[in-house]
Amino acid sequence: MAENNGTPIVRQCPDLEALSRAAARDLGADIEAATRTQETYTLALAGGGTPERLYELLAAGTGGPFPWDRIHLFWGDERYVPHDNPKSNARLATRTLVHQVPIPETNVHPIPTQQESPEAAAATYTETLQQHFPDRTATFDTVLLGLGSDGHTASIFPETLDRDADRNRWVRVVTAPPRHDVTTRLTCTLPVLNGARRACVLVAGERKREALRGVLDHEDPSLPATHVQPRDQCLWYVDQAARPGDRGGD
Ligand code: 6PG
Repeated sequence: MAENNGTPIVRQCPDLEALSRAAARDLGADIEAATRTQETYTLALAGGGTPERLYELLAAGTGGPFPWDRIHLFWGDERYVPHDNPKSNARLATRTLVHQVPIPETNVHPIPTQQESPEAAAATYTETLQQHFPDRTATFDTVLLGLGSDGHTASIFPETLDRDADRNRWVRVVTAPPRHDVTTRLTCTLPVLNGARRACVLVAGERKREALRGVLDHEDPSLPATHVQPRDQCLWYVDQAARPGDRGGD
């Protein structure tokens, strides 16, 4: 039964360290509760720079202990670069988390950007997801997400927000607007992201303030992050710079 039907719950924190710690503790509590009644826990990781501190904290055991042998890691999106490329989302999480914890390699499911084309990688990752989730309406236990200053999340940009294109797809190849450093991207579609039971959106920094206001206060439908509506909890971990004051932005 959905606790709040994906209505945003905002966790206002002083800074990135505090929001990362809050997210780690909440995630640890959810993992502990969920694994009392289910064998495995599925967590989709976010890209960009904001989640790095959260990954470091999880690796250090904040919020734990974690049953790493029962946790499966996925990615919500990826840049179409090799996994050893500094721009790779898999590289960030591998360095800060995956290589720091006793998680079986078979539990880690990066988007296969080594494949000969982005389309092939999207097709393969779709198969991977379908092996774990028979239906898009019930996917990850938790999906971690970030927010771009233009309101994008994962690799769903205002310019590529095409709900029809998402209708039958699990993973899409996207050409990001040229302002982004890597333009060929792969992203789970909104139905797959929203098939998660919980979404945790991590937002830090003044440059995110306008986008965050657009999503949380104005529910601007042109902003992809406005459409993040998981099955149960939609948690926004925001720092003071991104959302000043306790009035929830002004
Ligand atoms: C990516 C992410 C993207 C990211 C936002 C925020 O691949 O870049 O999926 O959606 O979360 O752009 O990025 P920062 O955390 O670096 O601000």
